[in-house]
Amino acid sequence: MTSTLQLSDKTLAEIARNVAKYPPEQKQSAVMASLIAAQTEVGWVSPEVIETIAVILGMPTIAVDEVATFYNMYDTKKVGKYKLVICTNLPCQLNHGETAATHLKEKLGIGFNETTPCGTFTLKEGECMGACGDSPVLLLNNKQMCSFMSNEKIDTLLDELRAEGNAA
Ligand code: FES
Repeated sequence: MTSTLQLSDKTLAEIARNVAKYPPEQKQSAVMASLIAAQTEVGWVSPEVIETIAVILGMPTIAVDEVATFYNMYDTKKVGKYKLVICTNLPCQLNHGETAATHLKEKLGIGFNETTPCGTFTLKEGECMGACGDSPVLLLNNKQMCSFMSNEKIDTLLDELRAEGNAA
């Protein structure tokens, strides 16, 4: 059986804040927000995270697992410090999205769903982010949208993240 984790007070408070939005008998409705809160702290949705959220929300573990594996914003495998999700849907592809994806792969030396050996970057392809007019677009660590990502802007972003990662 998978063990549970001791999440931080901050994460538990965030989960409680979301649980409070629903009637007590429907606290399972907070599962998505709870997974995000735990992922933010732990870095990925590990089996222990799934078990912990299941216990907190009084849900079967398999039900939490189904949510975590269905939506691509949850990382059910370990990712690097910086997760880059580049949109490769057709509207973006037709507007330099493919060029940006190829450039990222070359610069990082990895393919989609891979992590650089140093553990700094994970590259993934994503679905439409609702910003097709800003193509190429990429999402950094599930939160920060980066628009009009020319090869030059990608190089600058990678340099900045490398410097930030080394300084941390
Ligand atoms: Fe890429 Fe919409 S298709 S943001």
